[in-house]
Amino acid sequence: MNPPNLLDDQGRASMATMLMLVHHAFRRDGARFSKALDEIAHGDRSRIAPLAEEWKSFRMTLHGHHTQEDSSVFPDVRNKHPETSKTIDTLTADHHRMDALLERGDRALSELPNDEAARVMTELRDLFNSHLALEEAEIVPFLRESREFPPIPDENAEKMFADGFAWCAQGIARDVLDKVFAMVPPGVRDRLPAARDAFTQRCRRAWGTFEETASRTPVPENLA
Ligand SMILES: [Fe+2]
Ligand SMILES: [Fe+2]
Repeated sequence: MNPPNLLDDQGRASMATMLMLVHHAFRRDGARFSKALDEIAHGDRSRIAPLAEEWKSFRMTLHGHHTQEDSSVFPDVRNKHPETSKTIDTLTADHHRMDALLERGDRALSELPNDEAARVMTELRDLFNSHLALEEAEIVPFLRESREFPPIPDENAEKMFADGFAWCAQGIARDVLDKVFAMVPPGVRDRLPAARDAFTQRCRRAWGTFEETASRTPVPENLA
């Protein structure tokens, strides 16, 4: 099945778009991890320290995304659309399976080089590819009508959201981002240029070189 568009049929962004930007970034970074681990396996030891560092952010963000879904998105959708219950049970079980893989990843990525890290990454990517596709098919349609970004309590939270948007905006088509950024509060929007520059620097440290895309779905253009 084809992945959904990030914008809706009328070209509008919504909370569905926000969720799918995060999915795009997980798929994008999963592929980058696999490539970097392959380079390490072929003898490029210079990638070990930056990759171990990047793993900490990746696993924290993935776990944080699951917590947000389990505690807020899923209960709300289940409540309003009880027919999604079985799917949500499957998705919740997937989150637990991914937690176990993240713990294996913590050990493997802190002891590079080894074969276990690439194995964990392959299992994790296989699982989250099917998981994300199910979420996009069954849950995302119910988020299309939510077009109000929730209030942000303080400056620390604004900075955290700006860093999060910098991370998940990379590789997304410009016009899609314009619609997304128009939705976010000004305190976050104003911090985006600096946050995006800082994220580009982080990518150079983590990946060396990396491919830029202009994706319009939650599947990166170069992986579709
Ligand atoms: Fe999920
Ligand atoms: Fe998700």
